[in-house]
Amino acid sequence: MLYTRPPEVEVYSGDPFASPCKAVVIPILQDASGKPIVTLDRTGRLSEAVSLELFKAEAGSLLETTAEGKITIYAGVGRGELEGVRRGVASGVKKVVERAECALVALSHLDHQAASEALLASLLAAYRLEAFRSSRGAKLKKVLIDRSDVDLRRAIAIAEGVYLARDIANAPPHEMPPARLAERAAELFKGLAEVEVFSYERLLKEGFGGIVNVGMGSEEKPVLIVVKYSGGEGKPVALVGKTVIFDSGGINIKPSEGMNYMRADKAGGAAVLGIIWSAARAGLRLNLVGLVPAVINVPSGSSYLPSDVIKMWDGTRVEVNNTDAEGRLIIGDAIAYAAKALDAAEIIDLATLTGAIVVALGPLIAGLFTRDERLREALLASAARTGEKLWHMPLEDDYKPWLTKNAQVGDLTNSAPSRAGAAIYAALFLERFAHGKPYAHLDIAGPGMGYEASGIAPAYWPDKGLAPGYGVRLIFEYLSSRG
Ligand code: BES
Ligand code: ZN
Ligand code: ZN
Repeated sequence: MLYTRPPEVEVYSGDPFASPCKAVVIPILQDASGKPIVTLDRTGRLSEAVSLELFKAEAGSLLETTAEGKITIYAGVGRGELEGVRRGVASGVKKVVERAECALVALSHLDHQAASEALLASLLAAYRLEAFRSSRGAKLKKVLIDRSDVDLRRAIAIAEGVYLARDIANAPPHEMPPARLAERAAELFKGLAEVEVFSYERLLKEGFGGIVNVGMGSEEKPVLIVVKYSGGEGKPVALVGKTVIFDSGGINIKPSEGMNYMRADKAGGAAVLGIIWSAARAGLRLNLVGLVPAVINVPSGSSYLPSDVIKMWDGTRVEVNNTDAEGRLIIGDAIAYAAKALDAAEIIDLATLTGAIVVALGPLIAGLFTRDERLREALLASAARTGEKLWHMPLEDDYKPWLTKNAQVGDLTNSAPSRAGAAIYAALFLERFAHGKPYAHLDIAGPGMGYEASGIAPAYWPDKGLAPGYGVRLIFEYLSSRG
């Protein structure tokens, strides 16, 4: 893994209070009438709190006590609905991350699916990015569970993918210039998937004008990382991830307020690498190809300029009316390459693409743009199952004239004529590069970055507004259900 890895998981059979762990986390369900179901109450403290109505077992509510010498956290999970279980258990685990090296999470009283999700949420809640601090606060290294029928391989595979996506998305930009990310990916995926790195020279030679132009302002030149996972038969599903290591806006520079968040403008590419990691570790039976165009968007003497006309990989000439609308240029190239050179069965992109989608849907919900009914239904169903929120947005044909309206010399412009409908504009722009293949665009600018989510984010997200690795669980679920 990159900087962090999830705690180890082991099955423990026996009395939960007799394990070597210093902490015990016990999910508490409500019955049909909403009353807490008292479970593993060794000291009577839980019954007492329940009868005094101090603890109602709502999802996220906690009761801490000491039982048989162990930190004991009773974690309310509501009536057992999966998102309540994930959030409740994650709140409980977060309470002990800095206090115990080992935590037993009691799962034997949950149904099978809830138990699996509780384990996954426990692992996600333990995430801390401390590689860039001089001292560590997190201690939790091991999670024990008290039942043996949970699919450990799946939970660990998903948790690792989410950790990888979080590490990459949140890494400081100079920790992770394009070539370094490519090197790390090649090392990481050894034995799991094949990694090919298209160098800057190759991108120039083969006409990846979008990636080249956006990336050429930085000393750290752009690359395209291609990751192929072969787990089954048939044409691959292509996953394209916007990977802007830092988005200053370029010559159309952004205001300084909030610019720090733009280190997470690589969250799409981070998610794609995380998804392929999870798929490979879980042994999903299908073929995947991940396309990760990695660039740094900064102003310099060699930057691309407003009014430049870029020849994209597929020949489209894009007139640049804003260098801050860079994501669509780099993934436009990658989407076209997936459609035409790789003959993908379908293409899904994840991109922190527009501020407009954050205005529309807020920090917790991503926008889904697709004309493909099967992709739409399947992705929305996966969103509902995983709790990674997604809302279907329109690809409005009547807005298409905007694409060409302000192009004075090129075929179309990269940025919308006004702020009105700017996320839809971006989606209509990208769709052209899929050349008729089944295609879905996920604008993850809100949940991808963790932007302004403090105080409302689910407990299994990292604290301090860090990027949560959005999209890994969602697309993994989609790929598993695709069969
Ligand atoms: N990376 C940003 C999108 C973004 C903005 C994500 C705010 C999260 C929070 C993207 O590259 C961008 O700058 N988009 C511009 C496009 C505009 C210039 C047409 C935007 O949305 O303002
Ligand atoms: Zn950007
Ligand atoms: Zn931008």
